Parts: sequence; C-alpha cells; structure tokens
Amino acid sequence: MAVDSSASAWSNRFEQGLHPAIERFNASIGFDIALLQEDLDGSIAHARMLGGCGVISAAEAEQLIDGLEQVRAEAAEGRFNPGLEAEDVHFAVERRLIELLGPLGKKLHTGRSRNDQVGTDIRLWLRRRIDVIDGALLRFQRALLEQAERHADTLIPGYTHLQRAQPLCLAHHLLAYIEMAERDRQRLADVRRRVNICPLGAAALAGTPVPIDRRATAAELGFEAIYANSLDAVSDRDFAVEFMAAGSLVLAHLSRLSEEVILWASEEFGFVALSDRCATGSSLMPQKKNPDVPELVRGKSGRVFGHLMGLLTMIKGLPLAYNKDFQEDKEALFDGVSTVLDCLEAMAILFEEGLEFRPQRLEVAVGSDFANATDVADYLVTRGVPFREAYQLVGGLVKTCLSEGILLRQLPLERWQQLHPAFEADIFAAIEPRQVVAARRSEGGTGFEQVRAQLTAVRQRLGPAAVSHA
Ligand code: ARG
Repeated sequence: MAVDSSASAWSNRFEQGLHPAIERFNASIGFDIALLQEDLDGSIAHARMLGGCGVISAAEAEQLIDGLEQVRAEAAEGRFNPGLEAEDVHFAVERRLIELLGPLGKKLHTGRSRNDQVGTDIRLWLRRRIDVIDGALLRFQRALLEQAERHADTLIPGYTHLQRAQPLCLAHHLLAYIEMAERDRQRLADVRRRVNICPLGAAALAGTPVPIDRRATAAELGFEAIYANSLDAVSDRDFAVEFMAAGSLVLAHLSRLSEEVILWASEEFGFVALSDRCATGSSLMPQKKNPDVPELVRGKSGRVFGHLMGLLTMIKGLPLAYNKDFQEDKEALFDGVSTVLDCLEAMAILFEEGLEFRPQRLEVAVGSDFANATDVADYLVTRGVPFREAYQLVGGLVKTCLSEGILLRQLPLERWQQLHPAFEADIFAAIEPRQVVAARRSEGGTGFEQVRAQLTAVRQRLGPAAVSHA
C-alpha cells in the first residue's frame, strides 16, 4: 500500500493519515489548549531536570527552555494557534519547539510520555484554580458577614418544614451559610493535598530507563510529593472526582441559599428587596422584578453534580493504566471550575450590593404567628410544670386562639391564669419575639449574645471588613 502523503503525526508504523472525522473526534486541542501555561511549566521543569541529570547537556537544556519560553511569548501575542492536526496541547508545543529548534526540539520528550505529562498539567491547572476558588469562597463569606453584622438585631422567622417554627436573629441565619462555606474551604484544602502530588516521570506506565530525577521536577513545580507507583501515577483521577464532590457541595450550599433568596424576594415573604443591579425584568409583565441570579445558581448546580457522576462513570471500568477515556476529565474540570467560580462571584455580588433585607416586613412577620408557643411551654417548665404537660396545655391554647382569630399575646391575663395558675403578668414579656430570641442562650443558639460572639469570632477568622460599597 502506498504511503499516504497527508502523513501522520505518529511513528513510521503508520502509513495513512487519520480519517478527518476521526481526527476531529480524537483531538483535544480545542479545549486542552487551556492547559498551555501548565504544559510549558511542566516541560521547562522536565528539560531543566534532563540537563541537571546529564541526560542532555546543560546548554541543550537552556535552549529547550528558551524555545519553550518563545512558545509562551507567541501565545501571549496570539500567534500560537495550533489546529486539529496537532491533536492536543502536548503535541502542539512539541511540534512548535521542533520547528523553532530543529533536531534539538526532538530531545524534549526523553524519559517522558504524554500520560505522565497530561497528569502533571491537569494537576498544576487544578491546584491554581483551587486557590482562586478559595479566594472566591472568602469573598462570599465576607459578603454574608457584612450583612450579618448589619443585622445583629434584626429578627427573621425560623422555619422547619417551611412552617414557622421559632424566631431567629437574622445574623444567626446568615452565619449558618458562612459555616457551610468554611467547610467547603476545608474540603478544598484537603483535596488540594492530593492534587499536589506529581506523576511526572512515571512515563507511559512503567517508569523509564532514562536516569531522571523525579524529585527535582516535582520540587521545581511546587509539588509536595511524588506518586509512589508509576501505574497509579498515570491512571489516578481520584483528585478530579474529589474536587467535583467538593465543588458539588459548594453548589449545593449556594443553591439552598438561592432558594431562600428566591422565596424571600417573593411578595408572599417580602423579606428582601432586590436591587436593580442584580435583578431582571420581564419582557411582557411590566411590574416584574425577577431573581434571575439565585435562580441561575440553583439551576447551574446540576452541571457540577452531573460532572461528578460523569467522572465517576469515566473511571469505574478502566483497566490499568492510562486509557483515552481520561481525556474526558478536562471538559468536566474546566466547566466545573468555571461554574463554581461564576456562581460564587454572582452570589457574593448579590449579598454585597444586590439585596437588602426589609426589617419592617421581617418585624411584622415575626410578630404575627405562634412561633413563641414553645416559649410558653418553657415558661411553665421553669415554674415546675413537666414539659410534656406544658406542651399539651399550650397546644390547647393555640387551638383556642386559632378558633378566635387572635395571637397568644392578645389573650388577657385571666385566661392564662384559668389555664394554669403559674402564669403571671410577666408572660407577656416572655413571649415577645425579641425576648424569645434573647432567651436562647445555649452555645450555638440564636440568642443575641451568642450571635455577637460568633460574629466577632468569624470576623477575626475572615479578616477586617472590606471597604464599604458605595
Ligand atoms: N490528550 C490526551 C488526554 O487528554 C493526552 C494524553 C494522551 N496519551 C495517549 N497515550 N494517547 O488524556
């Protein structure tokens, strides 16, 4: 058979070029060009190590590094635009290096495979993004904290089963989300430890006879450790799954908060007003102001959860070691990272300048329900009545009030005393929402003193207040 003139990127074993549709199907250059900086960093470390170990001369190593920096400069000027024929970013860089340096460029890939190379690139890429996400989580926490500090004395109804349960300090409610974000940060820091292990030098799967120094490249690239086993090194994508699990929880938390904001912004709740900067109108209904930002965040959570399932499914049936299936990790990670970042930024802006709580509406809401019923029971308990008995008595009282269309505080003192002689005039103060909240002094509870202590502790942890937003 004649040798195809379109030739192949592969070794002389191949006689024909790829079918154009298969070339497109196989290529990752369309998206893995995002790894260019990391690919160059990894190659530079590799070249320097080859020089240091005497595999190539020191002068050759320098020229390779210069060539790689030239590719970086070309890319910065928009002059590095490899096409499909390059297949992936790794080949694209190597090809350009050979164009620039001639035969010397062909020495770069000594003692290395694209399998350990891509694993190195993606870890470097993800490590940087985890740090950016940590910063975005911190910004989000600070935005919540500033609202919480503003509302250390504001009350909001607390719910279980989305039924009014007991009144809360609004700051306490917001602090709950700061805690979730804190766990998100801890989880990402933990994932980062396992992202930060270097596979470079595992070569294709078995290591290499070339006398390389894996620890030198790992140290230059800032990795904390190297993979102990070369097969594991090139076939481990646990870190990607772990990242996506941690990212899924970030989105789950943002989505829960979004759901609350959407409810709060409704006419029915009326607890927040959205600013024009973060709300949108309807093309048809002129009166509408829609909470698109939290709705999009809630909607986008599904993408990240989906990537988590995609990654788990990708790895579950793979024999050791590298398989091309791994190429699928990139788009999942790229989209997962940008979704997490975009949603964190949008929610931070929403709390920085996109919504305002409406204290008057909250005050009315908190004062117009039976969310103080537990406190009536607690009142009796402190006067010697067994809790279950008090609970039954108050249940009856609520029923009476409901049938008469009145609230507990509207019952005259005689009626309280008919129910139980332990009731005295101080019952009215005891069931005021502000008192109900203040009384919950148990550690971690919603009592104002507890919440103030929390606000101080969190402020210390997160650093001083940002410059105020005009
Ligand atoms: N584009 C490939 C990927 O993303 C690079 C590694 C290819 N290795 C190979 N042996 N085909 O995984």
